[in-house]
Amino acid sequence: MVNVGLIGLGTMGWRIAKNLKDDGLLIGVFNRTMSKAIKFAEENKVNVFNNPAELARNVDVVLSIVSDDDAVKSIMLGENGVINGIKQGSLVIEMSTISPSTSIELANKIKEKGGLMVDAPIIGTSILIEKREAVVLIGGEREAYERAYEVVKHFARYVVHVGPNGYGLYAKLINNALLGSYVAALAEVVNLGEAMGLSSSVIMDVLTKLSSARSPTSELKVPKMINNDFTTQFATKHMRKDLDLVNKEASRLGVPVPMAALALQLYRMSEADGLSDDDFSAVIKILKRRNSTQR
Ligand SMILES: NC(=O)c1ccc[n+]([C@@H]2O[C@H](COP(=O)([O-])OP(=O)(O)OC[C@H]3O[C@@H](n4cnc5c(N)ncnc54)[C@H](OP(=O)(O)O)[C@@H]3O)[C@@H](O)[C@H]2O)c1
Repeated sequence: MVNVGLIGLGTMGWRIAKNLKDDGLLIGVFNRTMSKAIKFAEENKVNVFNNPAELARNVDVVLSIVSDDDAVKSIMLGENGVINGIKQGSLVIEMSTISPSTSIELANKIKEKGGLMVDAPIIGTSILIEKREAVVLIGGEREAYERAYEVVKHFARYVVHVGPNGYGLYAKLINNALLGSYVAALAEVVNLGEAMGLSSSVIMDVLTKLSSARSPTSELKVPKMINNDFTTQFATKHMRKDLDLVNKEASRLGVPVPMAALALQLYRMSEADGLSDDDFSAVIKILKRRNSTQR
């Protein structure tokens, strides 16, 4: 059986690590904030590595899932980064949602060191990781995909080989462009419905059961908006980051993305209003705060 080292014990990484440990694949972890790695290791009887290079020297598969481009560059290319420890023939499964061009650059560097890398961003929240029902979109060579599949299948229901390096991320970005715009639109109509005097149960039923535009996302997010429960499933800061990536890629390609551009502004306003770490459905708060009191 392959042995895996995981970097990044955040909301997603912790749960992925737990599944891999339960299935006997995980041998150790690294996290920037060491106390989290120590806690995980004590609870799950795995090794703690002092830095990403040490982890890479001791495993055949490195799985990383951290916040953004800067975080990935730091764990991969930093002083004690993966690139300094990776073994000939090792595989890197990079699952963070980052810029496709950063990811392609990194895959080339890993290849120069004799390893292989796939970009493998995830569709689905931490809940789906726990249920082992996530969707993973893989970009990379066929051989790398096949090896990655043997690991990712332990927490995903669908694993799709989308194309060469970077294409998993392109596919992820069109998903999040839709998701970010859709949740902002849901927030708009929940706020409007409440101002009209519709009862919570009517708003809930229309948007989650009766509407032809209902979806698993409306089922997940509308109750949160109605109940003012913004405990984090996916943080505002991550959605803002993803829409930034969407807008940059669209500019590079010369393609108009008016919905994603507007959604980006709304999540930026959420961040400015102190909602960075809240679930991104908290975007409804910035609309509510701007409701006119004069009708
Ligand atoms: N949450 C979701 O539902 C979801 C769904 C799909 C995709 N994603 C994507 O998955 C990735 C992780 O999301 P998450 O929700 O697990 O994030 P999170 O809970 O915020 O965790 C972020 C992780 O990145 C590490 N990190 C941040 N900056 C770093 C740096 N400069 N150097 C090294 N490590 C750094 C953090 O370490 P510390 O503990 O030291 O802060 C932590 O382990 C993101 O790219 C996100 O867009 C998330």
